[in-house]
Amino acid sequence: MSPRKRVAVLISGRGSNMTSLVEAARAPDFPAEIVLVLSNRPDAAGLATARAAGIEALALDHKTYTGREEFERALQATLEARRVEIVCLAGFMRLLTAWFVARWQGRMINIHPALLPSYKGLHTHERALADGVKIHGCTVHFVVPEMDAGPIIAQAAVPVLDADTPDSLGARVLAQEHVVYPLALRLVASGGTRIEDGRVRVADGAERPALVSPFFPA
Ligand code: GRF
Repeated sequence: MSPRKRVAVLISGRGSNMTSLVEAARAPDFPAEIVLVLSNRPDAAGLATARAAGIEALALDHKTYTGREEFERALQATLEARRVEIVCLAGFMRLLTAWFVARWQGRMINIHPALLPSYKGLHTHERALADGVKIHGCTVHFVVPEMDAGPIIAQAAVPVLDADTPDSLGARVLAQEHVVYPLALRLVASGGTRIEDGRVRVADGAERPALVSPFFPA
């Protein structure tokens, strides 16, 4: 097996997706290892979870920097010092500049709680319910300067039920986020993706993570 790719997970909050990546990376055949968890908020609950799992966890408080660029330079230096090869955004609530995104082009992925390109931005579950859509879900994609855009690596779909609230729908989506993010990282870290005309192509023989949730309650 080629050496495992060194991954940093960037968070701002509870870090449940980060935990799903950490757990997946415990498998001996997983092509990536989580070497760093980094939060822009010192109070992010995910930092303690990562430390408890034996992973280096750091806070770079964006408020202590004079601006976005200075913050990102510190972030970049931290990632370089740990020889990070892939960045996973997992509930990281800071917009990243084109400068930073360019440094990680094709090597930075994000999870979004909607079936992109629908419902970019915040409050995705509320908006899906308000529109009365019957299928909702989540997307893992490569990061480009435009928010919640970028080539799609994997998606999972869930049904929207009549009795759903934003919380119940969000919980159903989150359960699939925890499945699809590790699958997407596995694919990217093993070199199974290439970007062609803005679309992700999966290499022949690579496991295909594009996923439709089988969950459909009676
Ligand atoms: C997830 O819903 C993710 O899709 C979104 O932010 C949330 C983060 O949750 N980008 P967690 O911190 O991973 O639990």
